[in-house]
Amino acid sequence: MRTGVEMVAPVEAPEKAVLTATEVWKAYRKGWWPKRQELPVLLGASLELMPGEVVGLVGENGSGKSTLMKVLVGDLGADSGAIDRTESFGYCPQVPVLYERLTCDEHLELFAAAYGLGPGQLAQSRQRLYEELDFARFAPTRVEELSGGTRSKLNLALAMLHDPALLCLDEPYAGFDWDTYQRFWDLTRDRRGSGASLLIISHFIADEERFDRIYDLVDGKTVPR
Ligand SMILES: Nc1ncnc2c1ncn2[C@@H]1O[C@H](COP(=O)(O)OP(=O)(O)O)[C@@H](O)[C@H]1O
Ligand SMILES: [Mg+2]
Repeated sequence: MRTGVEMVAPVEAPEKAVLTATEVWKAYRKGWWPKRQELPVLLGASLELMPGEVVGLVGENGSGKSTLMKVLVGDLGADSGAIDRTESFGYCPQVPVLYERLTCDEHLELFAAAYGLGPGQLAQSRQRLYEELDFARFAPTRVEELSGGTRSKLNLALAMLHDPALLCLDEPYAGFDWDTYQRFWDLTRDRRGSGASLLIISHFIADEERFDRIYDLVDGKTVPR
C-alpha cells in the first residue's frame, strides 16, 4: 500500500575529528628563583586528525615533536591549550617502555589485560601482529635478549594490540630494517583502510608521499605543509 510518505535520505552527520589540539603551550622548568630556568618548547601548537587520515609530524631534532605527542596522549600536562581526543587510542613512545625480564608474549598479555581484551581478542590480535611484523619466533623470548629492532616491533605491537581508532606513533620505525619498514607501511595502510587515524612522528623527508597531510613543527608551532 502506498502511504504517500516519501523516503527522505538521512542527513549525514559531519565527521568528527578523532584528535584536536588547540593552542598548546608547554615549557620545561627547572630550579628555583633566582636560578630558575625555563625552556619554552610549544608556543601555541594546534592540529586536527579526522577518521582514516595518516598525518605526519615532522621537525628538527629537539623541535618538540615528542613533547607535543606526550601532551596529546595525556602523558604530560600542557601549560595551556585544549586537547580533545577519542578514548580509543594507542601510543608508541619514542623510547620503548618494556620490562627486561618479561617475554614478548607476557608483554602482550599484560597490555591486553590493561586494554580489557578477552582471551579470543588477544589471541587473534597477537597472531596478526606477530605475522605482520614478523617476530612470532620471539614470542617466548625475554626482552633482555632482544635486539633493538625487535624491541621496536614489540613497542609498536603493544600500541596496536586493541585496534584503536587513533594511533600516536613517535618515530616508530627508527630501529627498523628495510623489510620491517615496508611491513610497517603495509600495516599502516591496512589500519587506515578500516578507518583508523594515525599520527606519525617522522624525520625522513623521503616519507612525504606516504602521508595524507604533514605538519611541520617550527618554532613551537605546527605549520600545515
Ligand atoms: N623532561 C624534559 N625536561 C627538560 N627538557 C626537556 C625534557 N624533554 C625534552 N626536553 C627538551 O625539550 C626540547 C624538545 O624535546 P623533544 O620534544 O624531545 O623534541 P623532538 O622529539 O622533536 O626531538 C629539547 O630541547 C629537549 O632537550
Ligand atoms: Mg622525539
